[in-house]
Amino acid sequence: MKGNTCLPAIFVLLLFFALKGITAGQQQSELAQRGEYVFALAGGCACHSVPKGTPHTGGREFPIPMAKVYSTNLTADKETGLGQWSDQQIRDAMVKGRHRNGKRLLPVMPYEEYSGMAEEDLNALIGYLRTLKPVRKEIPALTTWLPFYRPLATFVWSALFNRASNTRAKAPLAGVERGRYIVEHVALCGDCHTPRNFLGVPDRSLYLAGSKKGPFGEEIPNITSDKETGIGEWSRTDIAELLLTGTKPDLDNIEGLMAEVVEAGYKKIRREDALAIADYLKSVPPVKNKIK
Ligand code: HEC
Repeated sequence: MKGNTCLPAIFVLLLFFALKGITAGQQQSELAQRGEYVFALAGGCACHSVPKGTPHTGGREFPIPMAKVYSTNLTADKETGLGQWSDQQIRDAMVKGRHRNGKRLLPVMPYEEYSGMAEEDLNALIGYLRTLKPVRKEIPALTTWLPFYRPLATFVWSALFNRASNTRAKAPLAGVERGRYIVEHVALCGDCHTPRNFLGVPDRSLYLAGSKKGPFGEEIPNITSDKETGIGEWSRTDIAELLLTGTKPDLDNIEGLMAEVVEAGYKKIRREDALAIADYLKSVPPVKNKIK
Protein backbone atom coordinates (compact mmCIF):
# COMPACT_ATOMS: atom_id res chain seq x y z
CA MET A 1 0.00 0.00 0.00
CA LYS A 2 2.77 2.39 1.02
CA GLY A 3 4.58 1.87 -2.29
CA ASN A 4 1.44 2.80 -4.19
CA THR A 5 1.10 6.18 -2.50
CA CYS A 6 4.79 6.88 -3.02
CA LEU A 7 4.75 6.31 -6.75
CA PRO A 8 2.54 9.24 -7.70
CA ALA A 9 4.60 11.47 -5.41
CA ILE A 10 7.82 10.38 -7.16
CA PHE A 11 6.17 10.90 -10.51
CA VAL A 12 5.12 14.44 -9.57
CA LEU A 13 8.60 15.18 -8.29
CA LEU A 14 10.24 13.91 -11.49
CA LEU A 15 7.81 15.94 -13.57
CA PHE A 16 8.65 19.00 -11.50
CA PHE A 17 12.40 18.63 -12.09
CA ALA A 18 11.91 17.86 -15.78
CA LEU A 19 9.79 21.00 -16.22
CA LYS A 20 12.28 23.04 -14.22
CA GLY A 21 15.03 21.78 -16.51
CA ILE A 22 12.99 22.66 -19.59
CA THR A 23 12.20 26.19 -18.37
CA ALA A 24 15.86 26.77 -17.46
CA GLY A 25 16.81 25.64 -20.97
CA GLN A 26 14.15 27.88 -22.47
CA GLN A 27 15.35 30.85 -20.46
CA GLN A 28 18.88 30.14 -21.66
CA SER A 29 17.83 30.09 -25.31
CA GLU A 30 15.65 33.22 -24.95
CA LEU A 31 18.66 34.98 -23.45
CA ALA A 32 20.86 33.82 -26.33
CA GLN A 33 18.26 35.01 -28.83
CA ARG A 34 18.13 38.44 -27.29
CA GLY A 35 21.92 38.38 -27.26
CA GLU A 36 22.05 37.56 -30.95
CA TYR A 37 20.12 40.77 -31.56
CA VAL A 38 22.52 42.83 -29.43
CA PHE A 39 25.36 41.21 -31.38
CA ALA A 40 23.74 42.41 -34.63
CA LEU A 41 23.40 45.94 -33.21
CA ALA A 42 27.10 45.71 -32.38
CA GLY A 43 27.89 45.19 -36.07
CA GLY A 44 28.44 41.48 -35.46
CA CYS A 45 31.55 42.39 -33.43
CA ALA A 46 33.17 42.38 -36.87
CA CYS A 47 36.64 43.29 -35.57
CA HIS A 48 36.76 39.70 -34.31
CA SER A 49 36.43 38.25 -37.80
CA VAL A 50 39.02 38.22 -40.55
CA PRO A 51 37.34 38.99 -43.90
CA LYS A 52 36.62 35.67 -45.66
CA GLY A 53 37.84 33.71 -42.61
CA THR A 54 35.74 31.67 -40.15
CA PRO A 55 33.59 34.31 -38.38
CA HIS A 56 34.23 35.31 -34.76
CA THR A 57 37.51 33.42 -34.48
CA GLY A 58 39.55 36.62 -34.04
CA GLY A 59 43.13 37.02 -35.16
CA ARG A 60 42.51 40.20 -37.11
CA GLU A 61 45.59 42.38 -37.06
CA PHE A 62 45.20 45.95 -35.76
CA PRO A 63 48.10 48.30 -36.37
CA ILE A 64 48.38 50.68 -33.40
CA PRO A 65 51.13 53.20 -32.54
CA MET A 66 54.43 51.26 -32.44
CA ALA A 67 52.72 47.85 -32.26
CA LYS A 68 50.36 45.33 -33.75
CA VAL A 69 47.63 43.68 -31.74
CA TYR A 70 45.31 40.81 -32.70
CA SER A 71 41.63 40.40 -31.82
CA THR A 72 40.49 37.55 -29.57
CA ASN A 73 38.82 34.32 -30.69
CA LEU A 74 35.25 34.77 -29.40
CA THR A 75 34.10 31.19 -29.96
CA ALA A 76 33.66 28.74 -27.10
CA ASP A 77 36.92 26.86 -27.80
CA LYS A 78 38.43 25.98 -24.42
CA GLU A 79 42.06 26.61 -25.28
CA THR A 80 42.08 29.41 -27.83
CA GLY A 81 38.65 31.00 -27.31
CA LEU A 82 36.35 31.99 -24.44
CA GLY A 83 35.41 28.42 -23.46
CA GLN A 84 37.09 28.65 -20.04
CA TRP A 85 36.04 32.21 -19.26
CA SER A 86 33.28 32.78 -16.71
CA ASP A 87 30.49 35.26 -17.48
CA GLN A 88 32.09 37.68 -15.03
CA GLN A 89 35.46 37.42 -16.80
CA ILE A 90 33.89 38.18 -20.19
CA ARG A 91 32.05 41.11 -18.63
CA ASP A 92 35.25 42.48 -17.04
CA ALA A 93 37.02 42.32 -20.41
CA MET A 94 34.13 44.06 -22.17
CA VAL A 95 33.48 46.88 -19.73
CA LYS A 96 36.68 47.25 -17.69
CA GLY A 97 39.30 46.23 -20.23
CA ARG A 98 40.63 43.58 -17.88
CA HIS A 99 41.84 40.23 -19.28
CA ARG A 100 41.22 37.03 -17.39
CA ASN A 101 45.00 36.68 -16.96
CA GLY A 102 45.11 40.00 -15.06
CA LYS A 103 46.60 42.05 -17.91
CA ARG A 104 44.96 45.21 -19.18
CA LEU A 105 43.43 45.20 -22.66
CA LEU A 106 44.62 47.85 -25.06
CA PRO A 107 41.89 50.38 -25.81
CA VAL A 108 41.59 49.07 -29.38
CA MET A 109 38.97 46.97 -27.64
CA PRO A 110 36.36 49.71 -27.04
CA TYR A 111 35.61 48.87 -23.42
CA GLU A 112 35.02 52.50 -22.49
CA GLU A 113 32.07 52.70 -24.85
CA TYR A 114 30.81 49.25 -23.86
CA SER A 115 30.89 50.28 -20.19
CA GLY A 116 27.67 52.19 -20.93
CA MET A 117 25.88 49.11 -22.28
CA ALA A 118 22.75 48.19 -20.31
CA GLU A 119 23.11 45.21 -17.97
CA GLU A 120 20.28 43.37 -19.74
CA ASP A 121 22.02 43.73 -23.11
CA LEU A 122 25.40 42.76 -21.73
CA ASN A 123 24.01 39.62 -20.08
CA ALA A 124 22.20 38.63 -23.25
CA LEU A 125 25.29 39.24 -25.38
CA ILE A 126 27.39 37.03 -23.12
CA GLY A 127 24.63 34.38 -23.27
CA TYR A 128 24.86 34.51 -27.06
CA LEU A 129 28.66 34.29 -27.15
CA ARG A 130 28.31 31.01 -25.23
CA THR A 131 26.47 29.54 -28.21
CA LEU A 132 29.25 30.20 -30.75
CA LYS A 133 30.48 26.79 -31.86
CA PRO A 134 34.03 26.23 -30.60
CA VAL A 135 36.64 26.72 -33.30
CA ARG A 136 40.29 26.25 -32.48
CA LYS A 137 42.49 29.13 -33.63
CA GLU A 138 45.64 30.34 -31.93
CA ILE A 139 45.88 34.11 -31.81
CA PRO A 140 49.31 35.74 -32.11
CA ALA A 141 50.54 37.76 -29.14
CA LEU A 142 51.00 41.53 -29.29
CA THR A 143 54.07 42.42 -31.37
CA THR A 144 56.14 45.50 -30.61
CA TRP A 145 59.79 46.53 -30.28
CA LEU A 146 58.99 48.65 -27.25
CA PRO A 147 59.56 46.90 -23.89
CA PHE A 148 56.64 47.00 -21.42
CA TYR A 149 54.37 48.24 -24.17
CA ARG A 150 51.11 46.91 -22.74
CA PRO A 151 51.49 48.14 -19.13
CA LEU A 152 52.89 51.49 -20.33
CA ALA A 153 50.27 52.13 -22.98
CA THR A 154 47.34 51.10 -20.79
CA PHE A 155 48.71 53.11 -17.84
CA VAL A 156 49.04 56.28 -19.90
CA TRP A 157 45.65 55.73 -21.48
CA SER A 158 43.78 55.20 -18.20
CA ALA A 159 45.58 58.07 -16.49
CA LEU A 160 44.81 60.58 -19.24
CA PHE A 161 41.79 59.53 -21.22
CA ASN A 162 39.77 56.85 -19.52
CA ARG A 163 36.10 57.77 -19.68
CA ALA A 164 34.06 54.90 -18.31
CA SER A 165 30.31 55.45 -18.53
CA ASN A 166 27.67 54.94 -15.89
CA THR A 167 26.15 51.52 -15.95
CA ARG A 168 22.41 51.15 -16.34
CA ALA A 169 20.05 48.23 -15.92
CA LYS A 170 17.88 48.76 -18.97
CA ALA A 171 18.34 50.21 -22.43
CA PRO A 172 16.09 53.07 -23.63
CA LEU A 173 13.24 51.56 -25.64
CA ALA A 174 12.56 54.09 -28.39
CA GLY A 175 13.24 57.47 -29.94
CA VAL A 176 16.36 59.60 -30.11
CA GLU A 177 17.50 58.35 -26.70
CA ARG A 178 17.49 54.77 -27.99
CA GLY A 179 19.39 55.94 -31.07
CA ARG A 180 22.01 57.67 -28.92
CA TYR A 181 22.35 54.59 -26.72
CA ILE A 182 22.87 52.28 -29.72
CA VAL A 183 25.32 54.61 -31.47
CA GLU A 184 27.40 55.36 -28.36
CA HIS A 185 27.36 52.09 -26.47
CA VAL A 186 26.49 49.21 -28.79
CA ALA A 187 27.00 49.93 -32.52
CA LEU A 188 29.96 52.25 -31.86
CA CYS A 189 29.63 54.28 -35.07
CA GLY A 190 32.11 56.76 -33.60
CA ASP A 191 34.79 54.10 -33.35
CA CYS A 192 35.31 54.54 -37.08
CA HIS A 193 33.55 57.84 -37.86
CA THR A 194 35.21 60.00 -35.17
CA PRO A 195 38.84 60.84 -36.00
CA ARG A 196 41.67 60.12 -33.54
CA ASN A 197 44.94 61.88 -32.78
CA PHE A 198 48.36 60.19 -33.10
CA LEU A 199 47.87 58.42 -29.75
CA GLY A 200 44.58 56.96 -30.89
CA VAL A 201 42.49 59.28 -28.71
CA PRO A 202 39.16 60.29 -30.31
CA ASP A 203 38.80 64.01 -31.05
CA ARG A 204 35.45 64.85 -29.48
CA SER A 205 35.26 68.20 -31.28
CA LEU A 206 34.97 66.22 -34.52
CA TYR A 207 32.42 63.75 -33.16
CA LEU A 208 31.22 61.59 -36.12
CA ALA A 209 32.80 64.06 -38.56
CA GLY A 210 34.89 61.46 -40.39
CA SER A 211 38.56 61.01 -41.10
CA LYS A 212 40.84 60.95 -44.12
CA LYS A 213 42.77 58.16 -42.52
CA GLY A 214 40.56 55.99 -40.33
CA PRO A 215 41.10 52.39 -39.21
CA PHE A 216 43.31 50.47 -41.70
CA GLY A 217 43.91 53.77 -43.52
CA GLU A 218 40.38 53.81 -44.96
CA GLU A 219 38.71 57.11 -45.77
CA ILE A 220 35.76 57.51 -43.38
CA PRO A 221 32.90 59.86 -44.34
CA ASN A 222 31.52 62.65 -42.19
CA ILE A 223 28.10 61.46 -40.91
CA THR A 224 27.07 64.62 -39.05
CA SER A 225 24.15 66.56 -40.48
CA ASP A 226 26.39 69.17 -42.16
CA LYS A 227 24.80 69.78 -45.56
CA GLU A 228 28.04 70.30 -47.50
CA THR A 229 30.53 67.86 -46.01
CA GLY A 230 28.26 65.49 -44.06
CA ILE A 231 25.00 63.67 -44.72
CA GLY A 232 22.67 66.62 -44.04
CA GLU A 233 20.87 65.96 -47.33
CA TRP A 234 20.04 62.36 -46.44
CA SER A 235 16.54 61.64 -45.07
CA ARG A 236 16.04 59.45 -42.02
CA THR A 237 14.88 56.61 -44.27
CA ASP A 238 18.00 57.02 -46.46
CA ILE A 239 20.15 56.43 -43.39
CA ALA A 240 18.02 53.52 -42.16
CA GLU A 241 18.06 51.95 -45.64
CA LEU A 242 21.85 52.13 -45.76
CA LEU A 243 22.09 50.30 -42.44
CA LEU A 244 19.51 47.67 -43.42
CA THR A 245 20.57 47.01 -47.01
CA GLY A 246 24.03 48.49 -47.58
CA THR A 247 22.67 50.67 -50.40
CA LYS A 248 23.25 54.44 -50.51
CA PRO A 249 20.60 56.92 -51.74
CA ASP A 250 22.48 57.18 -55.08
CA LEU A 251 22.09 53.36 -55.29
CA ASP A 252 25.82 52.74 -54.88
CA ASN A 253 26.75 49.83 -52.63
CA ILE A 254 28.58 50.62 -49.43
CA GLU A 255 32.16 49.35 -49.30
CA GLY A 256 35.07 48.57 -47.01
CA LEU A 257 34.66 48.38 -43.24
CA MET A 258 31.13 49.76 -43.37
CA ALA A 259 30.10 46.90 -45.66
CA GLU A 260 31.56 44.48 -43.09
CA VAL A 261 29.56 45.85 -40.14
CA VAL A 262 26.38 46.09 -42.24
CA GLU A 263 26.77 42.52 -43.47
CA ALA A 264 27.75 41.03 -40.10
CA GLY A 265 25.21 42.94 -38.06
CA TYR A 266 23.35 46.16 -38.87
CA LYS A 267 21.48 44.45 -41.71
CA LYS A 268 19.69 42.24 -39.18
CA ILE A 269 18.45 44.98 -36.86
CA ARG A 270 14.83 46.09 -36.58
CA ARG A 271 13.69 48.92 -38.81
CA GLU A 272 12.62 51.00 -35.79
CA ASP A 273 16.15 50.73 -34.37
CA ALA A 274 17.69 51.77 -37.71
CA LEU A 275 15.33 54.78 -37.72
CA ALA A 276 16.19 55.60 -34.09
CA ILE A 277 19.88 55.65 -35.09
CA ALA A 278 19.00 57.96 -38.01
CA ASP A 279 17.01 60.30 -35.74
CA TYR A 280 19.91 60.48 -33.32
CA LEU A 281 22.40 61.22 -36.12
CA LYS A 282 20.14 64.06 -37.25
CA SER A 283 20.19 65.49 -33.73
CA VAL A 284 24.02 65.58 -33.58
CA PRO A 285 25.42 69.09 -34.24
CA PRO A 286 26.62 69.48 -37.84
CA VAL A 287 30.42 69.70 -38.12
CA LYS A 288 32.10 71.01 -41.25
CA ASN A 289 34.89 68.58 -42.07
CA LYS A 290 35.63 67.86 -45.68
CA ILE A 291 36.80 64.31 -46.31
CA LYS A 292 36.42 63.86 -50.06
C1 HEC B 1 34.17 49.52 -38.66
C2 HEC B 1 34.11 50.91 -39.04
C3 HEC B 1 32.74 51.55 -39.17
C4 HEC B 1 31.70 51.51 -38.26
C5 HEC B 1 31.66 50.81 -36.92
C6 HEC B 1 30.63 52.30 -38.83
N1 HEC B 1 31.01 52.80 -40.04
FE1 HEC B 1 29.83 53.91 -41.29
N2 HEC B 1 31.32 53.89 -42.69
C7 HEC B 1 32.56 53.33 -42.55
C8 HEC B 1 33.29 53.47 -43.80
C9 HEC B 1 34.71 53.01 -44.07
C10 HEC B 1 32.44 54.12 -44.71
C11 HEC B 1 32.71 54.47 -46.18
C12 HEC B 1 32.19 53.35 -47.03
C13 HEC B 1 32.23 53.64 -48.52
O1 HEC B 1 32.95 54.54 -48.92
O2 HEC B 1 31.53 52.95 -49.27
C14 HEC B 1 31.20 54.38 -43.98
C15 HEC B 1 30.09 55.00 -44.51
C16 HEC B 1 28.94 55.35 -43.81
C17 HEC B 1 27.86 56.13 -44.35
C18 HEC B 1 27.79 56.71 -45.77
C19 HEC B 1 28.21 58.15 -45.78
C20 HEC B 1 28.48 58.71 -47.13
O3 HEC B 1 28.63 59.94 -47.22
O4 HEC B 1 28.57 57.94 -48.11
C21 HEC B 1 26.94 56.29 -43.35
C22 HEC B 1 25.61 57.04 -43.40
C23 HEC B 1 27.45 55.59 -42.20
N3 HEC B 1 28.67 55.02 -42.52
C24 HEC B 1 26.80 55.50 -40.98
C25 HEC B 1 27.23 54.72 -39.94
C26 HEC B 1 26.46 54.50 -38.73
C27 HEC B 1 25.12 55.14 -38.43
C28 HEC B 1 27.18 53.64 -37.96
C29 HEC B 1 26.79 53.04 -36.64
C30 HEC B 1 25.47 52.45 -36.56
C31 HEC B 1 28.41 53.34 -38.68
N4 HEC B 1 28.40 54.01 -39.87
C32 HEC B 1 29.42 52.51 -38.20
C33 HEC B 1 33.04 52.69 -41.41
C34 HEC B 1 32.29 52.38 -40.29
